[in-house]
Amino acid sequence: AGPGLIDGFGRAIRYLRISVTDRCDLRCRYCMAEKMTFLPRSKLLALEEIAIIAERFIGFGVRKIRLSGGEPLVRRDVVELVQRLGGHLGAGLDELTMTTNATRLADHAMALADAGIRRVNVSMDSRDPETFRYITRHGDVTQVLDGITAAKHAGLAVKINMVALKGLNETEIAPMLDWCLAEGHDLTLIETMPLGVVDEDRTDRFVPLTAIYEGLADRFTLTRDANGTGGPARYWQVNGTATRLGLISPLTANFCDGCNRVRLTTEGKLYSCLGHDDQVDLKAALRDGGVAALDDAIRLGIAGKPARHDFRIERGAAPAVARHMSVTGG
Ligand code: GTP
Ligand code: 5AD
Ligand code: SF4
Repeated sequence: AGPGLIDGFGRAIRYLRISVTDRCDLRCRYCMAEKMTFLPRSKLLALEEIAIIAERFIGFGVRKIRLSGGEPLVRRDVVELVQRLGGHLGAGLDELTMTTNATRLADHAMALADAGIRRVNVSMDSRDPETFRYITRHGDVTQVLDGITAAKHAGLAVKINMVALKGLNETEIAPMLDWCLAEGHDLTLIETMPLGVVDEDRTDRFVPLTAIYEGLADRFTLTRDANGTGGPARYWQVNGTATRLGLISPLTANFCDGCNRVRLTTEGKLYSCLGHDDQVDLKAALRDGGVAALDDAIRLGIAGKPARHDFRIERGAAPAVARHMSVTGG
């Protein structure tokens, strides 16, 4: 199991999120600007380096690894990475999973399942083709739905991620839950977070999930499920069904006290908190000093993990964090 990674506030770090690319084929309005500058490929960690770093974390007691991005499936060698990390399942690693926009999931679902992935989180903020196109600027929701169907056929459990957006998908939330119940998916609702400059003021789209929860609790019988996923969501079981409803409310219900995760960026930086700029360069440590230096850098990063984020949604204010979600992988 290894000595374990404990931060300065006594929190055990068991969950590593890896952004395998900052690129994405979509441009969701709350996530990215229409014109984005992506990292040159020469700056990215090689697959082998990602694997070495991930394996050090497993050695340090990390039990769950999530691959994200950007869109992880736009990186060509990502399935190889899944296969390599999948080899640690049951031997240190409890869960290997992915957050994807599913535009390319139909092509990869079977390979992911074969490599040991059991569930995927699919970002789908709307099932309405026009609304989906508007939010993502480029997306075709039928590709996403096909990806979800393929995932189901491959035996993968699916959780839908839906960022609640005022005037765009608010009225679709209850229908989305109905659809998830019918399809056997979980659903997580997410508050829009101030990361990176986008082309609109996020304040205009912010929906506090407190009010949404009340509305859903009137329509569905919800029982709080204390067994989380080790992620930031609070979960409720929708009674009489297999579906869980999750709420990720960093703005209205802070969950940092229970935080168990850190993030590895595409460039090899370890960010110990989504909401801060504190980081340690693991790529440089590994390249310059090998695995011993890497271990030291990991410990240093964990020791410096901040207590909590300080997200606020304020009209006209610069985002709390300058980098986009896609750089740190959410
Ligand atoms: P499960 O394992 O299914 O519970 O997944 P997850 O919720 O941990 O991961 P996912 O990639 O689906 O992320 C859902 C949302 O949670 C994204 O918007 C993430 O940015 C956000 N999120 C994940 N971790 C944190 C965190 O530490 N702080 C904040 N504020 N948001 C987070
Ligand atoms: N605020 C909240 N969620 C975001 N995501 C991307 N950017 C943001 C943001 N600024 C979500 C995506 C995806 C998950 C990885 O993060 O919709 O579901
Ligand atoms: Fe891409 Fe995901 Fe960001 Fe949308 S939310 S632009 S799918 S990384």
